[in-house]
Order: sequence, then structure tokens, then C-alpha cells
Amino acid sequence: MTITTTRSERAKLDFVGGLMAYNSMGIGKSMFTHYEANKPKHGDAEPSFDEVKAIMEGADAYKFGAFFERHNHAMMFQTTLDIVARQKQQADDWLDTYNAPGSVGSLTLDPSLEPPRYYKNLEIHTQPGNYHGEYGGVLYDWMIHPFLVHRDDNDEMGWDLANGVPKRDYKRILDLGCGVGKSTLPYCDLYPDAEIHGIDYAAPMLKYAHKKAESRGKAVHYSQQLAEDLQFEDESFDLVTALWLYHEIPRKSMDKIAQEAYRVLRPGGVFAIMESPPFKVMREKCSPLSEFLLDSTGRRMEDPYIPMFFSLDRVEMLQGAAPFDKVYDKELPNHLTGWSTDGQYFFGAFPWWATIGEKS
Ligand SMILES: C[S@@+](CC[C@H](N)C(=O)[O-])C[C@H]1O[C@@H](n2cnc3c(N)ncnc32)[C@H](O)[C@@H]1O
Repeated sequence: MTITTTRSERAKLDFVGGLMAYNSMGIGKSMFTHYEANKPKHGDAEPSFDEVKAIMEGADAYKFGAFFERHNHAMMFQTTLDIVARQKQQADDWLDTYNAPGSVGSLTLDPSLEPPRYYKNLEIHTQPGNYHGEYGGVLYDWMIHPFLVHRDDNDEMGWDLANGVPKRDYKRILDLGCGVGKSTLPYCDLYPDAEIHGIDYAAPMLKYAHKKAESRGKAVHYSQQLAEDLQFEDESFDLVTALWLYHEIPRKSMDKIAQEAYRVLRPGGVFAIMESPPFKVMREKCSPLSEFLLDSTGRRMEDPYIPMFFSLDRVEMLQGAAPFDKVYDKELPNHLTGWSTDGQYFFGAFPWWATIGEKS
């Protein structure tokens, strides 16, 4: 990467990153302690959502944390923008040079593509200018590592899904809403003979993804497309994936994307999405506190579709959208929240939740 940092910029990044870690691990722990000390005792029955809400909205740790998280994010984004602004010309030249001679992958942009209407009046998870805003990829990548307390620095979530899809001899793989490629790159290593594609609607994400893949020598073909309107031929892929895409889109788009995935899959192909588990599962198998924290993060951090998405039965959703032969949920190891590991957790500990549709 040619975006450089001075010693004082690195110190600031460390400071803001430290605050992010404190938000997750320190304040998160205080919230958990408050909840455990105050939850009503109903025998075996867990407290209702409204009971958890009342407990948490009375907690100093929650009130402080809710404000802190938003402003902490803003500080991280602004720090990153300041660093890029200091070297604007070099950053622009670097990002705008793609498909250089010797590239192993490719980038195809479509300047006529309009951002989806649902992102027009929104800065998703408070990212300035949204995914399609200037330096969207840099902002996302530099925020996500400290936000996830560096537990995803090696694309662990991408690996968890890539390792969790049915093992087949996939020859052509497509990652929808690929972002900066964290969910795409693991397939290059797991399926070295396959042709790997990633699509995203946002050019700044793709430019950064292309740079990242090329710097690692990974052959990924990135293109700017809407997941609801793919520009690929019918029956041209064996595996289609979407990691952390579905919780950010409206209900109708979920169906359109599943229909497009079905269309481009060959017979025998697999569509797999992965997110945190639905609220019902979190509540029953993990903790009603995790449900509350995820719901409230969505409302507070400009992720408006979170409450709706996590209330859905995902098997019913996929079955209703396209005639997949077999649709099922699958729990996957989660290295981020500590589920299935001995690690400390934040936002509760739960498995990843893949929903898989197989086309016969
Ligand atoms: C939360 S990010 C996840 C990125 C990546 N899958 C990962 O796991 O790191 C969601 C991505 O989906 C993209 N996206 C959102 N809606 C889209 C749509 N309708 N079509 C294509 N890409 C979309 C965004 O631009 C963003 O890069």
C-alpha cells in the first residue's frame, strides 16, 4: 500500500483503535455484568426483549457505550481521511491505476451504475459518503480491523464461510457484495484451480480490493455490478456467496439477489450466505442480551435493516425466493466472538449462521 503514516498519525490510529477495543471488550463486559446482576429471575425462562431493553437502558455502561461507539467510529473515519488528504495525489494515482501490466486478476468498472436507492439517504454504519463515497475502501478497511479488535485481520470470517460451504469441486466462484475482498480471497487458496469473481456496486471498494488482491498475488476478477442485476450468463457459476451483505439491504432486494444467484448457478451449484444468527436463535441458544445489543446497534449506527433481517427465518426466505432443491441453516465456528474457542467475547458469543441453498 502506498498510503503512508507518520509517527504521530500512527499514534493517533493506535489511540482510536484502543478506544474501539475498549468499547468492545471493556464497556461490553460492563454491560454484560450489569445485565447478569439485574436480569429478572423467571426460573428457566429468559427475560423478554422489552425486559432486557429496560435493564440496559438504565445501565450507565450502555448509555455511555452507545454514544461512545458512534463517536469512536467518527474519529476513526476522520483520522483515516486526514491521513489520505495529506497524500491525496499519491492515493488517487494509486487507486486509479488498475489492470496494470502483469496483473493476475482484473477490475471492470461501470461508471454508469447508480448506487442502490436504499443507500441514497444513508451513511451505512456511519461511514462518511457511504461505500461509494470517496476512499470508501480505505475507510472500510482501516475501520474494520480495530473495530473487530484485530480478530479478523487474516480474513477469519471469510475463511469461516469458505470452510463451511459444502466441499465440492467448484470451478467458478462468485462473491456478492465482496467489499474490499476479505470474503473473496480465501477461495483463491481453498480452490486454486477455480476462477474467482467478486462483485460490488461501489467502485471505491473494488479499487481497493483489486489493489489488495494484486499485492497478495491472488487472481480475482472484480467487477462493479448490482447483486440484484448480475451481468453474468445463466448457469455460469458453481458457488455463489454473500458475507455480511443481507443485513444491509431491504427485504425485496434479498429475494432479487437470491433469484439472481439461482439464475447464475449451474445445476448442482450452491448459494451460501453468512451472518450472525437470527434473533430467535441468539435468544434461545446464546443470550437475550446479544439480541438486544445487535438490534440497538442497527438502530443507532445507521444499519436500518438489521432489526428486520435478524427477525427473518432465512430458510423460508430463500425457499420463497427461488426453487432451490435443498435449503438449510448451518452453524459455523466463529473465531470473532469466541464461540467454539476459549477467547474472550464481545457482543455475546454465538456461532456464525450460514444459510445454504442447493440447486439440483
Ligand atoms: C458489510 S460489507 C461486506 C463486505 C465483504 N463481503 C466482507 O465480508 O468483508 C457489504 C458490501 O456489500 C456491498 N453492497 C451492498 N449492497 C449491494 C448491492 N445491492 N449490490 C452489490 N453490492 C452491494 C457494499 O458496497 C459493501 O462493500
